[in-house]
Amino acid sequence: MAWEIHSSFDVLFDHAWSQLARATADPRHAWRYPALGTVAAGMPQQRTVVIRGVRQAESLVWAYTDGRSPKVSQLQSQPKASWLFYDPKARVQLVMHTQVQIHNGDEVSRTHWERLNPVQYKDYNTAQAPGTQAAQVDYLNEESWDSTHFCVLMAKVLTLELLMLNSEGHVRLHFSVVDGIWVGQKLVP
Ligand SMILES: Cc1cc2nc3c(=O)[nH]c(=O)nc-3n(C[C@H](O)[C@H](O)[C@H](O)COP(=O)(O)O)c2cc1C
Repeated sequence: MAWEIHSSFDVLFDHAWSQLARATADPRHAWRYPALGTVAAGMPQQRTVVIRGVRQAESLVWAYTDGRSPKVSQLQSQPKASWLFYDPKARVQLVMHTQVQIHNGDEVSRTHWERLNPVQYKDYNTAQAPGTQAAQVDYLNEESWDSTHFCVLMAKVLTLELLMLNSEGHVRLHFSVVDGIWVGQKLVP
């Protein structure tokens, strides 16, 4: 289904979630690679990640990373992250603000590790930490890849904002939880 900008808030909200779900399964989906924003000492930090899963009923989205990467220590000090998606064909931007829980060495991270395609294991097995200087990239545990550094960034969505560009007039909708229920508001684009 395409974006029908005159649909009700509920329909557009559900459509945003269904597009996120599709992005987790389709490597060609425009929302596959959001910019994940964190803060470090008052400075915004951003990087591209892959959205790995969503669970709308619990307002959850998640990504995977190496626990030694700077974003993880940033999230330990300030467990908030923004996620920015843009679909240039549909001309729809989505911004989410989230509260992030880091899962490493627990049941959640084990379950996700077991579901990974083994070709992905090496991404979490560099000998040196991501972001450190190295003349070449060496790997740990090539014989049996290890999940020690594998982290699931489980993000609870606190607000969700859609901007739909349209020649008849752009539409901007802001959703937040009020008394346990998602409520949408129309904003000036
Ligand atoms: C297309 C693309 C997808 C990426 N996906 C991820 C990802 O899912 N998880 C991740 O940790 N890094 C991913 N990266 C690398 C990050 O953008 C970033 O360079 C790395 O995680 C280090 O980030 P940090 O130093 O801010 O922690 C991806 C990069 C690109 C270009």
